[in-house]
Amino acid sequence: IPVDPFDFIIFGGTGDLSERKLLPSLYHRQRDHQFSEPTRIIGASRSKMSDDEFRAFARKAIEEHVAPDYIDKAELDEFLARITYVAADAVSGDGFEDLKAAIGDSASIRAFYLAVAPALFGDISRNLKAHELITPTSRIVLEKPLGRDLASARALNDLVGENFPESQIFRIDHYLGKETVQNLMALRFANALYEPLWNSAHIDHVQITVAETVGLEDRVTYYDKAGALRDMVQNHLLQLLCLVAMEAPSSMDADAVRDEKLKVLRALRRINGNEAPRHTVRGQYRAGASAGGPVKGYIEELGKESGTETFVAIRAEIENWRWANVPFYLRTGKRLATRVSEIVIEFKPIPHSIFGDGAGPIFANQLVIRLQPDEGVKQFIMIKDPGPGGMRLRQIPLDMSFAQSFKGRAPDAYERLIMDVVRGNQTLFMRRDEVESAWSWIDPIQQAWESARQEVQGYTAGTWGPSASIALIERDGRTWHEST
Ligand code: BG6
Repeated sequence: IPVDPFDFIIFGGTGDLSERKLLPSLYHRQRDHQFSEPTRIIGASRSKMSDDEFRAFARKAIEEHVAPDYIDKAELDEFLARITYVAADAVSGDGFEDLKAAIGDSASIRAFYLAVAPALFGDISRNLKAHELITPTSRIVLEKPLGRDLASARALNDLVGENFPESQIFRIDHYLGKETVQNLMALRFANALYEPLWNSAHIDHVQITVAETVGLEDRVTYYDKAGALRDMVQNHLLQLLCLVAMEAPSSMDADAVRDEKLKVLRALRRINGNEAPRHTVRGQYRAGASAGGPVKGYIEELGKESGTETFVAIRAEIENWRWANVPFYLRTGKRLATRVSEIVIEFKPIPHSIFGDGAGPIFANQLVIRLQPDEGVKQFIMIKDPGPGGMRLRQIPLDMSFAQSFKGRAPDAYERLIMDVVRGNQTLFMRRDEVESAWSWIDPIQQAWESARQEVQGYTAGTWGPSASIALIERDGRTWHEST
């Protein structure tokens, strides 16, 4: 369904995010005929550049980041014809009048996408207001990192909040745009099957794993200052935890959903200084092998000493009726054994076996929601091993693979999120109080690590992280689900 005409202004238009994600995603939406006329895309950044130079940048971005099968010459030309460029300086405000002239008196929806360092969020929003560029149908889109702790997140939110009301602020967590993440809501709330079992009476524990095989890539400065706790847990993993743990919202309305997520964040039990060593693991990769070849350790990649973690495991607890005594084990890291993101819901064991020892072990049922790659849902159940050999039991997955069930291209998370920005639908965006609440839970962990000097534990690249991560869950008599 086409969306209303819009002007999409990308600050940081010549940057990495614009090149890899924003321009290719917009192109896909054009190709699927989702635009109405007149829709325009305006690149903005400090460097001087002509429209044609920016169009050449966009063409290259699309040729490099869109699969050749989807590049249609006529659509690409039409897409490029929408694009112009304005040089604007966020701090001095130079160029904002040119931006105003470029937009003209168009009544279209305006999306100001801030694909820039957060240090510029305040300046850009101030200049947009000072130059009277903000209309009632304008939105501002903020990319992470949204702060590095509660205080800096508040300061950022205050600065932007001086110029835009909350209803016009879209804070991106691209995990919320992933198909399977949204499917989590469908699974829970479009089926009667799971919800009655979705609580501490029937669920033993939950595991959330976001494992990557990549290392530092070229984000040296940012990553070494952030570390995995801030980079991944504060946002992506906690958002996943919220979607698993929240109560049923009364509708998909943005605030109905975000109210429920917020309640979960507020119910997370604080991990204080004494508990951090038992409930958290910090790791850093050492040289090893990944993706079929040898790779350097973090320190060698970085080129200097560093105590930054590239792996985190946490035993989290939610203090409410539904989840009392159901641990949520979270783990994420770079240079792990395989790239996989998944959520495992492990149900309680059966109360009594009628089968005797000869039948073999009876495994607890697991529901595995695979976010990437090979998106799908597997429900592991016990069955009788076929054949005349007596009652032998076996675990098998009821397997719903998206690739097999749905043909066609899986859209990138950004495609969905960008269109939601245009539609003005905030359901998949983080509200101010959610972000701040997530930081309030992260801060004590970070502080505990710093004050107790909880050092990073080395792990060999290409493994599942430090052995302490295995100990964290095995101490409770449980094991990490083996992801392959
Ligand atoms: C980003 C993190 O938010 O998410 C990166 O900053 C990480 O460090 C990335 O690599 C992972 O995203 P995805 O979509 O590849 O799982």
